[in-house]
Amino acid sequence: MEQLRIALIGCGGRSKAHQNSFEQMDCVKIVAVADPIEARRNEAAERFGVDPARVYADHTALLDNESKETVDAIVIAVEPTAHVEMETRIIDMEIPFLVEKPYCIDLEYAEDIARRVEQKGLITSVGFQDRYLDLVDIVKEELPKHKPGGLVYGSWIGGIPGPWWWQKKSTCGGQLVEQNIHLVDGLRYLFGEPLSVYATCSRGIVQPGVDASVEYDTDDHSTAVYRFSNNVTVTLVSGCYVKGIRPHNGLVVTLDDMILDYRLRNNLIITTAEGEKDIPRGVDQTYLLDEAFVKAILTGDRSLIRSDYADALKTHRMAFAANESMETGKVVYL
Ligand SMILES: NC(=O)c1ccc[n+]([C@@H]2O[C@H](COP(=O)([O-])OP(=O)(O)OC[C@H]3O[C@@H](n4cnc5c(N)ncnc54)[C@H](O)[C@@H]3O)[C@@H](O)[C@H]2O)c1
Repeated sequence: MEQLRIALIGCGGRSKAHQNSFEQMDCVKIVAVADPIEARRNEAAERFGVDPARVYADHTALLDNESKETVDAIVIAVEPTAHVEMETRIIDMEIPFLVEKPYCIDLEYAEDIARRVEQKGLITSVGFQDRYLDLVDIVKEELPKHKPGGLVYGSWIGGIPGPWWWQKKSTCGGQLVEQNIHLVDGLRYLFGEPLSVYATCSRGIVQPGVDASVEYDTDDHSTAVYRFSNNVTVTLVSGCYVKGIRPHNGLVVTLDDMILDYRLRNNLIITTAEGEKDIPRGVDQTYLLDEAFVKAILTGDRSLIRSDYADALKTHRMAFAANESMETGKVVYL
């Protein structure tokens, strides 16, 4: 295979980050694109010189007209509620795919997809970009050198979400599932599988129809307490209500002799008795995520992929368990 022929399903914000990666890779050719928004699909098609006959109004049209003879891989970046008859068809067509998180907001659907992927033995990748960060590598390598156990504080607090689907809990799953799932995944990556979670959520700061659309009904903020083995307890906060300020986001791990302060996709501050070391991010983690997917298909080496569909399902279960706790007020044991 000289060039990997990729089709894009969804040409919105996140797709553009993948497009930036693929534009830099000689071994990749974007051959087909789909998006219901005409301007978006045309922009992507023009960028890569896609044959107009292969520019489609949605994933159904693309999948009706393409096959594994014409496309080697598909990149899916659509809103969480749009994953309808998408992965199931792609799996039946035996085409490897990379899918953005959260890969749906219906856990049963995700469990079904994971089973089908396994049956076909397909190569998949999920967009947990932080796993490819040099800063996260440093934290992962550092942890086993110390006495296990300690407190972890994670936060992702930002402004009122823009996209229509992000403003409704029923279409985004809530901020923990839609956005802070990156840090949820980071916790699994660093500390293993969790034991339990208790979570709360709150609304009332963002006024529907004033600060956001009249349909706004997602939580303004939530707090989840995850317990892991080895005496690790995490408090993970999510917030999407602030205006004009940039809160401190990321993960702060306090060990008995070191603080690892991972500042979301920006830098890592390591503090010990000897002093402080500030390490800036040195890689483009989305490029590395995309490169790992492409190389895994070209070489057959799946170990390059740091989170595939089956692995990401565990992170999804962890995020949905927090949502369950928010609804029931009870601790969920995992
Ligand atoms: N990994 C990351 O860091 C990261 C960052 C941002 C967003 N995301 C995720 O990426 C996904 C998309 O987010 P976004 O910001 O690009 O949203 P977006 O709204 O900007 O883009 C989604 C696009 O999908 C298109 N679409 C919807 N249904 C479709 C269909 N049936 N066929 C083809 N296209 C369809 C929409 O028209 C839209 O253009 C979300 O799940 C989001 O959580 C991941």
